Amino acid sequence: MNIAVLTSGGDAPGMNAAVRAVVRTAERHGHKVFGVRDGYQGLIENNLFPLDHNSVSGMLSKGGTFLGTSREPRFKEDQYQNIAINNLKERKIESLIAIGGDGTYRGAMDLATKGFKVISLPGTIDNDIAGTDYTIGFSTATETIVEAIDKLRDTSKSHQRCSIIETMGRHCGDLALFSGICGGAEFIITPENPVEKNDIIETLKKHKESGRRHAIIVVTENIFDVHKLANEITKSSGFPSRATVLGYIQRGGRPDSEDRILGSRMGAYAIDLLSDDIYGVCVGVRDSKMIHLPLSNVVGQRRPKNPLYNLYKRIS
Ligand code: ADP
Ligand code: F6P
Repeated sequence: MNIAVLTSGGDAPGMNAAVRAVVRTAERHGHKVFGVRDGYQGLIENNLFPLDHNSVSGMLSKGGTFLGTSREPRFKEDQYQNIAINNLKERKIESLIAIGGDGTYRGAMDLATKGFKVISLPGTIDNDIAGTDYTIGFSTATETIVEAIDKLRDTSKSHQRCSIIETMGRHCGDLALFSGICGGAEFIITPENPVEKNDIIETLKKHKESGRRHAIIVVTENIFDVHKLANEITKSSGFPSRATVLGYIQRGGRPDSEDRILGSRMGAYAIDLLSDDIYGVCVGVRDSKMIHLPLSNVVGQRRPKNPLYNLYKRIS
């Protein structure tokens, strides 16, 4: 079998481990693998190249994605999806493994609906994909944020300040939730756990009166203008406040061991599925076991609220 593999949407540490596992496992099954340059853009522009054992050597420890990625709006259109399928068929490639987030899954489902054999793997730091407990890249990004919180706590404590840390996550608060718990945050504010500005200020006033010397707030992007929030907290709560937007720092860096293992397991599992003629599905990890679900069951679904919010409430 000839198999194409691509990475798409926001890059995530561990994507390279997944591609490496796809290539190495496929070779053992006797399949040939083609890498697609820059996600769906490469499918439209017929930019593919053969991958073998040696071309993925040394990739396990590299952050980002060596295949390249893109946000490619044309791929939402029928005509470009048809061009992509024709390009693949001309090369006698019968199946595709698409690694990315929710948008990538939508593109994969469109190809599946058109009869192409597709499997998608969850590759995004946001952990916002239904049908899996964890996405490739989430663990490394969480670790990066925790390191930042630890550093900000040092300076915040020294100056008796309130530090606000904005994380990525789009519509999912898991990056803020997990890093906030690990970093001992006083407030974790996410789409699943909204908090009113007045409640923050009133609580901080009480903390100040009770003798607390500093506070940490971790908040998902797109909820507050964090610099304005810092000014308001400074004026009203008694805690001088500073905001730090972590931005793209949290998306880069060498993948940690969790993401190397998750990417490797998922890449190998995808090849097992294709070899068993199973497709139109996405791969996930549930209770530490590899699973697959029909793409149609997962695309557009929100993950349930994480039970760790209960833990955070008990220990904060
Ligand atoms: P992510 O996969 O990380 O969520 P994007 O939302 O940018 O990132 O999606 C990645 C790519 O998937 C887009 O650039 C586009 O090419 C494709 N895509 C996104 N949404 C759709 C859609 N509704 N239909 C078809 N393709 C889509
Ligand atoms: O990869 C997902 C994500 O990190 C989101 O959390 C964030 O909103 C988005 O990417 C920003 O990415 P870009 O600016 O590259 O489109």
